[in-house]
Amino acid sequence: MPKIRFIEPDRTVELDAPKGTNLLELAEENGVRMGSACGGVCACSSCHCWIREGGDSLDEATEAEEDRLDMAFDVRPASRLGCQVKVGDAPLTVELTSESITTWYNEHPDERKS
Ligand code: FES
Repeated sequence: MPKIRFIEPDRTVELDAPKGTNLLELAEENGVRMGSACGGVCACSSCHCWIREGGDSLDEATEAEEDRLDMAFDVRPASRLGCQVKVGDAPLTVELTSESITTWYNEHPDERKS
């Protein structure tokens, strides 16, 4: 089972996930601060992340995902939408973008530090 490492500014969360696991769902089930303004239907860019390692093991982004990424901030070659990524055979290192974390805090205002 591949290891999935989520990198946030102040912590790293490491999880095991079977092939085919949706990255956003994995994040949500484990308290990782990946935003999901549209609920994971490829209609926003709040789950924008950078795949630091293991990106070659993933299916290519669809045209719909590429179109949505065009709306994102700080898009890089490693950019993906978490809700559109399914875990492959290899471990992944996934860095959350500030765009995504900001959305997560907007969705979870009680989690904000005062
Ligand atoms: S949660 Fe909206 S595109 Fe992924």
